[in-house]
Amino acid sequence: MDLLQELVEQALQKVAQAATLVELEQLRVQYLGKKSQFSELMKGLGTLDPKERPQAGARIHAAREALQEQLNAKFLQVERQARDRQLAAEVVDVTLPGRKEPRGTLHPVRRVLNRIQLMFQQAGFAVVDGPEIEDDFHNFEALNIPEQHPARAMHDTFYFDAHTLLRTHTSPVQIRTMEQGKPPFRIICPGRVYRCDSDMTHSPMFHQVEGLLVDEGINFADLKGLVADFLVRYFEQEVAVRFRPSYFPFTEPSAEIDVQCVHCAGSGCRVCKQTGWLEIGGCGLVHPSVLQHGGVDSRQWTGLAFGMGVERLAMLSYGVQDLRLFFENDVRFLRQFA
Ligand code: DAH
Repeated sequence: MDLLQELVEQALQKVAQAATLVELEQLRVQYLGKKSQFSELMKGLGTLDPKERPQAGARIHAAREALQEQLNAKFLQVERQARDRQLAAEVVDVTLPGRKEPRGTLHPVRRVLNRIQLMFQQAGFAVVDGPEIEDDFHNFEALNIPEQHPARAMHDTFYFDAHTLLRTHTSPVQIRTMEQGKPPFRIICPGRVYRCDSDMTHSPMFHQVEGLLVDEGINFADLKGLVADFLVRYFEQEVAVRFRPSYFPFTEPSAEIDVQCVHCAGSGCRVCKQTGWLEIGGCGLVHPSVLQHGGVDSRQWTGLAFGMGVERLAMLSYGVQDLRLFFENDVRFLRQFA
């Protein structure tokens, strides 16, 4: 019985000190399992005087019960502590605001393109697309620029092979549009174009907006009115527009479009190189053989066309001095258009 007392005290002390469920399980096996000292004591009952046996048995049994109870209580306590620790560690504050996704901005060139598109759509023009990988026929031949024509030299073309190239302008879309439909036509084509040229004012890839209007009785006055109206709306001021006689193989007559300098109002500054005028693009009345190449009867239909540089327009409306800023994609630059 002394042994029992000692055993119980020792076991209770160990249970009290145990800190994990694993330790408690080990103690349970050690003290209450089949091979435990309690079991040995029970077995030893047989050697006692039969008169003492019931009482001794009852004491051992009570001691076991007491130990079992302690173990259970401690087990629950350790379990609760573990859960509390876990809850504290994984606490989620559902009242916190969500994580913000950083918001991008439209590239300034895209912004300008969107504005131009919207303006022409409001004037009844459809926005069409064309391939950036073009063939010689659409990029040159059908636009009145045959193989040995000097105008080809001005285009600094990227060739894949003798017949395939990166389009050097958006004008081939004029031909594709006419091939695919029946007049009248009223389209613009914004898109990328490529030229083997790179410096402060030239980029090997840049953007143009092509315009084509084919109908009966279209004349130069329509062209002037359309382009001038567009530029006044685009620059949001009553700018003067000038048409300078020029030459493009695919238009006749041809003109270059100048707008009065939007920075100095025509008095002369660095942006307009003291001329008071800014070059925006080219235009003209569609050459009859270009209509013919597009499958349009040039006796019934006439057309106007124009092509403008988008980066140029963007530089002027945002006061950007270096073309390369549009292509470096420095976020400090781009963020200013947020
Ligand atoms: N395609 C010409 C270029 O890239 C620009 C141009 C001039 C387009 C006159 C036209 C036009 O539609 O009529 O230099």
